[in-house]
Amino acid sequence: MKKVGVAILGLGVVGGGTYEILTKNREFYQRTQNVDIVVESVLELNRERALKLGVPAEKIMSNIAEVVCNPDVNIVVEVIGGIDAAREFVLAALNAGKTVVTSNKELFCKYSHELERAAKHQNAGLYFEASCVGGVPIIRTLLDGLQANNITSMMGIINGTTNYILTKMSNEGFSYEDALKEAQALGYAEADPTADVEGFDAAYKLSILSSLAFHTKVPFSKVFREGITGVTKEVIADGKELGYRLKLLAIGKQTDSGIEVRVHPTFVRTEHPLAAVNDSFNAVYLTGDAVGDVMLYGRGAGALPTGSAIVSDIIYAATHAESRYSTFKNTANADKDVHFPSDFSSAYYLRIKVSDRTGVLAKIAALFAKYNISIEEMLQKGEGDTASVTIVTHETRELAVRNAVSKINALEVASVESVLRVVS
Ligand code: HSE
Repeated sequence: MKKVGVAILGLGVVGGGTYEILTKNREFYQRTQNVDIVVESVLELNRERALKLGVPAEKIMSNIAEVVCNPDVNIVVEVIGGIDAAREFVLAALNAGKTVVTSNKELFCKYSHELERAAKHQNAGLYFEASCVGGVPIIRTLLDGLQANNITSMMGIINGTTNYILTKMSNEGFSYEDALKEAQALGYAEADPTADVEGFDAAYKLSILSSLAFHTKVPFSKVFREGITGVTKEVIADGKELGYRLKLLAIGKQTDSGIEVRVHPTFVRTEHPLAAVNDSFNAVYLTGDAVGDVMLYGRGAGALPTGSAIVSDIIYAATHAESRYSTFKNTANADKDVHFPSDFSSAYYLRIKVSDRTGVLAKIAALFAKYNISIEEMLQKGEGDTASVTIVTHETRELAVRNAVSKINALEVASVESVLRVVS
C-alpha cells in the first residue's frame, strides 16, 4: 500500500482537528483509499500542546528546516495563519518539492501567484480547499463538479462570525455590541474582531472563489467591501417587517460591464434559500449556465469541519499523480482587459429620518426622480414631530443612490440613517 507522510505546521484549533481526523481515520483511509497517511512530524513551539494531542515527542519539531528536509514528508499542511511566517514556510516546503495544503485565505488570496509559480517549478501540488468556507467543499465544486459550467453568479454567506452576530440581532433583538460579545465568548470572533466584522475575511475568500469561478485573477483590491459595524437592530427589525433578512453577502457576478465583486450587509427576501442560513453556518448559492442554481451549506469554521477540508485535500494529493493549477494566468494583478465596475446595479433600502412637515416627502421623491431611482415600496412611521421613512427601490445604480443620499442629507429636514443593498 502506498504510504504518504504528512507534516502539520501549527497545532492550533485547525491543526489539532486535522491531527485528530488523520489519526482516528487512518485505517479507514487504508481501507477505502488504499493509502496509508502517516503524520511524520508537526511544527509546534508549544510542545505541551502537541503532547496533549498525543503526538509522539520525537515527531515534534521547532524548526521548518527539520520538516522540509525530512524525506519521509510528502505533504506539508500549513495551518499557522497570518502572512509572514506562513509564506516563508510554504515557499520553503514547495521549493523542497513538497506538496502543500493550506487553510490560509489571506496568504492564498494575496500570494497564490507566487506560491503557484514555486509549486509548478517543482511539479508539486498546492491545495487550498480549507481556505474558503471551512468544511463546505466549494473549491472542489468549482474546479471539478461544476467545471462544465460558465458560472454567471455566486452569492454566499461566507463568514460565520458575522452570520452569528446578525442572527442574534435579528432573532433575539440583541444590539450589535452584545451580539459581538457573545460571539467572542463562544470563540467565533477574535478579541480584535476587525477581520470578520469589517468584511476582510469574506473579501479574501471572495477574491479566491471568484478567480476560480470566472477563470481570471480577481485581486483583493478589486473587491468592494463594507462591514456590519454600522448595522442596528432597529434597521434589522424594519427589514423584517418588509419581508427581508439581513446577511453579510459576498457577491460575484459576470455582467455586461465586467465582473462585480462585493461584500456588504444585504437584505435578502425571506423566501430566498440564503435567508434561512442562520447562526454560524455558511452557504454559497451559485448559478451556472448548464446546471442552473446550486446551493452548498455547512460549517465554515471549526477544528473538525476545517480539518475535513484539509484531510480531503491530503487524500486528493495522495491519490492523484498529476498536480492541478489554476485555469487562468495567475498573476498579482488582474488582466488589463477585465473590468471591475464600481457603479454596480442593485435594489436599495434606505431609512431616512425626516421632520414631519408638509412637503418633505415630496422633496425626497423629487430627488429620487432626479437620479432616475424608482421606488418600489415606502413606509412612514411617526415619532412625535419627526418620522422615519423607509424606502425600497427598484434596481438602480450605486452611484445614483450615493448622489441622491448626499442631496437628501443636504436638506435641512431629512437625514439618511441607513443605506443597504437588497437582493430580491
Ligand atoms: N473567522 C471566519 C468565520 C472563519 O467567522 O467564518 C475562518 O475564515
